[in-house]
Amino acid sequence: MSAMCKVSLASFAMVCMLGSSSAMATGNAGLDRRAAAGASRPGAADEAGALARGRKVYDESCMVCHATAIANAPRPTDRPAWEARNKQGFEVLVRHAIDGFRAHPPKGGAPALSGDEVRDAVFYMSSGRAK
Ligand code: HEC
Repeated sequence: MSAMCKVSLASFAMVCMLGSSSAMATGNAGLDRRAAAGASRPGAADEAGALARGRKVYDESCMVCHATAIANAPRPTDRPAWEARNKQGFEVLVRHAIDGFRAHPPKGGAPALSGDEVRDAVFYMSSGRAK
């Protein structure tokens, strides 16, 4: 247990250092929470766009932990892991991604991301379509 905490704390510090330029922009937690409260899957017409945008956000801000499953962060290619998490509903996943959830830091440690950008990244990661 303590080993896991050390791992996730170390990676969080690393993410903070990597994201120091974007951290200059102050996030607006209230607005983000409203965006998250209404978060729904992108409509069929916007799915391809959301996947492409989400992949970019993922590559820049999320893969540092999620590509290596650090501290049990689900890999986008791990379909069984996402099937289990998807059961709680897309809106809950987005809220956890924005607010933080156990070792997952708020907005993945990238406070300059908008709620919509986080939503698109969650859509990409949880879609089962990552390669
Ligand atoms: C510092 C490492 C780290 C970064 C960076 C990170 N995550 Fe996570 N994330 C985690 C960990 C660890 C978990 C697993 C938490 C658990 O279930 O104990 C997780 C879980 C999640 C979940 C599942 C939440 C749930 O309710 O099951 C989502 C969605 C998520 N992350 C999205 C993102 C997005 C989007 C980004 C980038 C904007 C991101 N993460 C960046 C560590 C990270």
